[in-house]
Amino acid sequence: MTSVLNSPGTMAVNKKLIESARLARSRARAPYSGYAVGSAILGGSGAIYLGCNVESGAYPTTMCAERIAIYNAISAGEESLQALAIVTKDGGTPCGACRQVLFQFSPDLEILCVNTEGDRDKFILPDLLPEGFRLG
Ligand code: THU
Repeated sequence: MTSVLNSPGTMAVNKKLIESARLARSRARAPYSGYAVGSAILGGSGAIYLGCNVESGAYPTTMCAERIAIYNAISAGEESLQALAIVTKDGGTPCGACRQVLFQFSPDLEILCVNTEGDRDKFILPDLLPEGFRLG
């Protein structure tokens, strides 16, 4: 199957998704770590949902950019997810907790990790989380 991130017709979609993640990153609130993260999810409908990390002085209540984006997508009524772009200074991959939440909703999700120079790494979720937890 041609992936949404590979097919020539979707180059513009990739670009838009990465631009959206960059925009989201500009809204990050990361005064404690100094590590700003922006993410953008392409829902099955074609709509894009943003997330940035939001840190709190009560450290454990901080939320990752990826989970904010996925919860935005799901709460907007998306039933499937096509792709995720994440922008950080070093092109970091999603944390384990976010991988598990992504797995819950889209076990084969395509993920683009992008640094601030624009270099990209492409993954599918099974690369990053080979044996995700399934209830029951
Ligand atoms: N962070 C994310 O937003 N996503 C990840 O997948 C890993 C970490 C955030 C949480 C915290 O605000 C900062 O990056 C440093 O851990």
